[in-house]
Amino acid sequence: MSKPADTQSLGSLERPSPEDAFHAEVLVLAAILAIGVVILGALALLIFVRPSAAAQSAANASKSESADAASVARGKKLFVSYGCYECHGRAAQGGVGPRLGPDPLPLSFIEKYVRHPSGSMPPYTEKTASDQDLTDIYAFLKSLPEPPKEKDVPLLNE
Ligand code: HEC
Repeated sequence: MSKPADTQSLGSLERPSPEDAFHAEVLVLAAILAIGVVILGALALLIFVRPSAAAQSAANASKSESADAASVARGKKLFVSYGCYECHGRAAQGGVGPRLGPDPLPLSFIEKYVRHPSGSMPPYTEKTASDQDLTDIYAFLKSLPEPPKEKDVPLLNE
């Protein structure tokens, strides 16, 4: 073992040769690049995937909204053609029969009652008014606007 060799190896441990330092720098750069690519990829996913998901759910929402609107429109017509309005009023506000909307009783109750009324209301069998018809009438009743509050009607506050 010669002394110069020892110093040489110690020296190479403490002070990396310029070539080693270059390799280390390349490795660090490569790592930074790799991390950058991953972050960019994640950003791209966020930017391109999220809006399309949002657009999808918006499309679904407007689809079910237009289905609701169609149901309300049908229900409004049926409420007239089945004569419900004659006793319950055109806006279901009540007349001979009680007020039915807004805030109608549950659909299951309406279905039961309309098929087997207990008072002076005539019965409507499934043949006359199908479950779908009653579902549409229910949608119409639910769509009715709330009447104004007493304090919001000037004539009632004079
Ligand atoms: C000839 C008049 C008349 C017609 C037509 C009529 N109803 Fe009625 N309805 C009544 C009366 C009166 C009552 C109160 C209970 C009774 O006497 O049966 C009533 C009660 C109801 C009730 C129960 C409400 C509650 O608060 O208990 C529902 C629901 C209802 N009617 C829905 C309908 C629907 C829907 C139609 C049309 C498919 C309709 N009615 C047509 C007269 C009528």
